[in-house]
Amino acid sequence: MNSVVIRAALPGDESSWRSLWRGYCKFYGAVVADEVTARTWQRILDPDSAVMCVVAEVDGKVYGFANCVVHENTWEIQPVCYLEDLFVLPSARSHGIGAALIEWLRNAMRAEGWARVYWVTQQDNAAARRLYDRFTQADSTVRYVIASR
Ligand SMILES: CC(C)(COP(=O)(O)OP(=O)(O)OC[C@H]1O[C@@H](n2cnc3c(N)ncnc32)[C@H](O)[C@@H]1OP(=O)(O)O)[C@@H](O)C(=O)NCCC(=O)NCCS
Repeated sequence: MNSVVIRAALPGDESSWRSLWRGYCKFYGAVVADEVTARTWQRILDPDSAVMCVVAEVDGKVYGFANCVVHENTWEIQPVCYLEDLFVLPSARSHGIGAALIEWLRNAMRAEGWARVYWVTQQDNAAARRLYDRFTQADSTVRYVIASR
């Protein structure tokens, strides 16, 4: 595979991003309402939104994305970056695209002055965890969620 370019998502990436997003939702068996998908894409493009997205492009085709939320927090003066969604097209996996997306975020952390980049994953997501373990060790955090519906 030729070299991977990681860059901020642009308006012209909408159909590629939507197609990858469908794959990501399917991976999680999640049904995301069209209006939520539309709103997420709108937020990605909005420079005033805390939501951002970087895409991985090879030879002009987008193969993966990282959707993130950069937010304030109570433990640091600097903002922190939450990597919310990471996805690579199944046919393009194991070529380092996932690693390139995380590496880009690590560099952005240094450049932007974020205190950290963090994310959660399912305990049994072995493929993702093999990749993540190359960057850092998982901590002992356990997630609790109260849903409104
Ligand atoms: C997790 C995910 C994003 C990883 O993407 P990826 O592009 O395959 O990641 P990488 O190629 O960087 O790393 C994956 C593997 O390829 C290996 N690899 C990295 N660079 C490589 C290269 N140049 N050549 C061959 N293999 C390579 C890595 O060592 C890693 O090892 P593994 O094969 O033992 O798992 C992808 O599997 C995915 O989208 N999964 C479904 C959604 C998901 O689980 N998202 C994360 C939710 S938290």
